[in-house]
Amino acid sequence: MRKHVIAGNWKMNKVLSEAEAFLENISGKVPENEKVEAIVCAAFPFLPALVEKAKGTKVKIAAQNMHFEESGAFTGEVSPVMLHDIGVTHVVLGHSERREYFAETDETVNKKVHAAMKHGLIPIVCVGETLKQREANETMSVVETQVKEALKGLSPDQIGKTIIAYEPIWAIGTGKTASSSDANEVCAHIRKVVGEIASKETADKIIIQYGGSVKPANIDELLSQPDIDGALVGGASLEAESFLQLVEAGA
Ligand code: G3P
Repeated sequence: MRKHVIAGNWKMNKVLSEAEAFLENISGKVPENEKVEAIVCAAFPFLPALVEKAKGTKVKIAAQNMHFEESGAFTGEVSPVMLHDIGVTHVVLGHSERREYFAETDETVNKKVHAAMKHGLIPIVCVGETLKQREANETMSVVETQVKEALKGLSPDQIGKTIIAYEPIWAIGTGKTASSSDANEVCAHIRKVVGEIASKETADKIIIQYGGSVKPANIDELLSQPDIDGALVGGASLEAESFLQLVEAGA
């Protein structure tokens, strides 16, 4: 039985005082049961303070990106070693905004996934098609390629520890959500692909989230789908109250 993983991706939002106030607001209110896991994906400058604030709570703190190298002359970059050292547990990799605006490719995503695994971070790997690709009936092949390339060279055990977030690009921040059955169909396909490249056991275990205009009003229906194990949420994760509602829906 897979748990639900609800991750709030704040993107480039909030200042430190707002980030800390958010954690104070949700502290003690995240359901204690094992059915749900809550993750906050914050900007680099907030991570140490949030890790500190989240101590003793069920909330995990994630970064939104990292470099694949451990250290060296990479001005402006943050390494997996640094993230692990400060107590970050998860890292979002290959978000469509990074692919579009920062030249992230399947190859760099794969390098980052390997680096995350090596340094004890759980990668949340984002995949998803553009509207043009969906209209051309290319969704399954686009997503399949992204999944295979991102997980290339990982052992079945490592694949089983990865989280995959299916985020159709046309649904991100637009208010348009994929219908729960369409979202489930793609998540089921991702699970099938994982079964082929790893094992049936891995496919049964891996957490696959949906992302794209998830909000308290549609989370129940999305989570009722058999292959959707949680959500990666942007806009609706910025307010503590709405984030808590999403987490409670997963409990
Ligand atoms: O990573 C989360 C994301 O891109 C979805 O954003 O605002 O549509 O929930 P949003």
